[in-house]
Amino acid sequence: MRTWAVITPWEVEGVVDYRKLLEEFGISPFAGLIRSIPYPHRLMRRGVIFGHRDYERILEAIEKRREFSVMSGFMPSGEIHFGHKMTMEEIIWHQKMGAKAFVAIADMEAHLVRGISWEKTKEIGMIYVKSIIALGLDNKNSLIYFQSKNEKVKNLAMELSSEVNFSEMRAIYGLSGESQISKVLVSLIQSADILQPQLKEFGGPKPVVVPVGADQDPHLRLTRDIASRISIFSFEKIGNGLRVRSKKEGMLEKLEGLGFDFRRHSGHLDIFGDSEKIEEEVRKLEVELGGYAFIPPSSIYHKFTTGLTGGKMSSSKPESYISLLEKPENAVKKIRNALTGGRATAEEQKRLGGEPEKCVIFEFYTYHLIEDDKELEGIREDCICGRILCGQCKKFAEDLLLNFLKQHREKMDEAESVLGDYTIIS
Ligand code: TRP
Ligand code: SF4
Repeated sequence: MRTWAVITPWEVEGVVDYRKLLEEFGISPFAGLIRSIPYPHRLMRRGVIFGHRDYERILEAIEKRREFSVMSGFMPSGEIHFGHKMTMEEIIWHQKMGAKAFVAIADMEAHLVRGISWEKTKEIGMIYVKSIIALGLDNKNSLIYFQSKNEKVKNLAMELSSEVNFSEMRAIYGLSGESQISKVLVSLIQSADILQPQLKEFGGPKPVVVPVGADQDPHLRLTRDIASRISIFSFEKIGNGLRVRSKKEGMLEKLEGLGFDFRRHSGHLDIFGDSEKIEEEVRKLEVELGGYAFIPPSSIYHKFTTGLTGGKMSSSKPESYISLLEKPENAVKKIRNALTGGRATAEEQKRLGGEPEKCVIFEFYTYHLIEDDKELEGIREDCICGRILCGQCKKFAEDLLLNFLKQHREKMDEAESVLGDYTIIS
């Protein structure tokens, strides 16, 4: 498998940030895992998904056909664009790999933090729902819900609130004395979104992967902390088994009846044998004892999409992104105005070649428009050798894009008529 190591100015800029993310926050690079993934998704193969936390757990679940879930959320506050499509594709890919898919429409966040009316969050939310169905979400093994209508999530958020103090929230989200309390509330709701798949009602503790943009990592750090804090037992691998601790009095003794060899210590219990098996049994017991036994959720992170005119893509700048519902004439206009890695003149481009690594059109091919790696590589070579010029190249991108948009609209219309086949809490 070819690995993508394109070093480009915006990526260099990116690399600095991404490396910082990796190093400062302890996100692991994704590249090392690619080889152990049977059919890696386009975004994995091309390094768009650049980082992860604990994704090994998910790979193992895929490989051993164990139960696992994928979950992510979408804030219905603006137009749906290709950034959202990435997350949706990642959810669908994991569902195909055997995961149960949970899709949150973050209407509480949109309403409480962004001030969008409930009417509007409902209307926009349904566009997200139809889009993910149009992109291929299966009606079996999926749950779509609006946060405000999901009692389990709201109740879980309430329970989680006892586990976090204000200093922590302030440190993670940069809150100040003037910050709205709704920010705290929606963060807890988001943690509840992420932990919901592990509730007893959904079969109890299991690996869950959360595909997100790198900006969502604070939520994951918080949720992983809360997950271990709220659970009765915590684990540490030792050479010949598992060391188990409990912050709750009288709980470690209960593990002595599980049938494993063990040794009591002050403050922990060493249990000997296959550590995976032990962990599974201990979690099962915790659930029986009324605990959550949450496994810290795994996550994968994709890079930000560059704005069409350079700089950051932002939903407040319509010229910087293309909506999945973009009118064809607008889509064409936006492609024509997009920043490329072309040279000042045709003569110069033929002589020096273009710079695909600086080109938003090429990024669009890489992230979205071209599935086949060889075809993409062909374009890259044609570009750097000066065999194609940007006008011609943009025309090609335009055709691919218009084709996608047309199909997506058709599939969204079809989605409308099959909504009843999906489990949707709305
Ligand atoms: N906060 C996310 C956003 O702004 C949306 C979201 C809500 C989410 N719940 C989630 C993302 C759970 C991942 C997991 O886009
Ligand atoms: Fe970008 Fe295509 Fe121009 Fe190369 S030829 S710089 S890929 S638009």
